[in-house]
Amino acid sequence: MTNDIIFSPFKLKNFTLKNRIGVAPMTRMSSPGDSIPRQDVLDFLVRRAENGAGIVYTEAIVTDYESSQGYPGQARLITQRQIEAWKPVVDAIRKEGAISIMQMFHCGRMAWPEINPANRVIAPSPITPQQKNPLTGEPYPVPDEISRFDIEHVISGFVETARGAVEAGFDGIEVHGAHGYLISNFLSVYSNRRTDAYGESVENRYRFAHEIIQAVRRVVPPDRLLIFRISNWGVADMEVSLFQDRSEWQQIIKMLSKEPIDAISVSTYDYSAKAFGTDQTMAQITREATDLPLMICGKIYDRATAEDALKHADIILSAKSILLNPNWVEDIRQSKELRLYKSEDANVAYTDEPLP
Ligand SMILES: Cc1cc2nc3c(=O)[nH]c(=O)nc-3n(C[C@H](O)[C@H](O)[C@H](O)COP(=O)(O)O)c2cc1C
Repeated sequence: MTNDIIFSPFKLKNFTLKNRIGVAPMTRMSSPGDSIPRQDVLDFLVRRAENGAGIVYTEAIVTDYESSQGYPGQARLITQRQIEAWKPVVDAIRKEGAISIMQMFHCGRMAWPEINPANRVIAPSPITPQQKNPLTGEPYPVPDEISRFDIEHVISGFVETARGAVEAGFDGIEVHGAHGYLISNFLSVYSNRRTDAYGESVENRYRFAHEIIQAVRRVVPPDRLLIFRISNWGVADMEVSLFQDRSEWQQIIKMLSKEPIDAISVSTYDYSAKAFGTDQTMAQITREATDLPLMICGKIYDRATAEDALKHADIILSAKSILLNPNWVEDIRQSKELRLYKSEDANVAYTDEPLP
């Protein structure tokens, strides 16, 4: 097919992507003990590259041993053994002509204290999310208000994890600023009630993200990508608009665009949903405010939705469809009729059942 936007190459800094399709970051909770994902989970990522994805993201990798872990069995990337485990995965993804990106996160107030070695829960302000922890059915604990010491400690966790990813050979590093986790907690007035240099104005709420990006960029060489992920929704605050309006969102996107980052990834629950009471989608509103390459996701499940999403973004990411259908990229190429999976369908990701 000529002019097939989905399968046209895209230049992302010094990388040429073979198509516009990426595997979205997906937590698998398969790394108890040594914080290294199960072999079948690593193999899954390689298989998605073999089957045609242009980008393969890791799950959200946790950044420090004190307070960053939000789910049991999350992976880390700091020790030599953890780094060595990822090297063959990264090499295999590259051999298939795809690029690999390590996503890293701190869970912030969406914490599960028992699984953090230091048993701490920190957030910009001592306020819990609206919903209960979906895995335990219990309310989230009230977090400690983050201190200057905590901020330095958290930043160094991001930096050390990025160093680990660079040594493992990843083509890119993503800072997870979405979904109601720590960075997102700072950005949103809904979870940030601070009155110091990190609260109140948009500039102040943005400061924490800025400090992390700057510190991480110093250890990510210029020939590797640095990406920031952001969303207007939180996993335990599904009904809440984390940003106050379109103008506040665009202000943050403009600040991000001045950073030494190479792309912005906007996570939505439904890419086609109109945002902030306007008749525009999140991708449209974001694109207006930035010249950076833009990734979008959310209910993109067949050729029609993929093509439509690419009208206002450069790259589409898929989580549920590419998780549950190993042939998703080829099925899109062939314009097959495909189904839209539900969140419950994806629960298999958290079991020890190997995925095809
Ligand atoms: C099993 C599963 C695990 C996920 N884990 C992460 C994660 O670690 N980091 C992240 O940013 N998003 C995570 N997400 C969200 C997806 O990346 C994506 O934003 C969301 O599922 C919407 O895309 P979709 O409609 O294609 O599923 C996860 C989604 C699923 C289904």
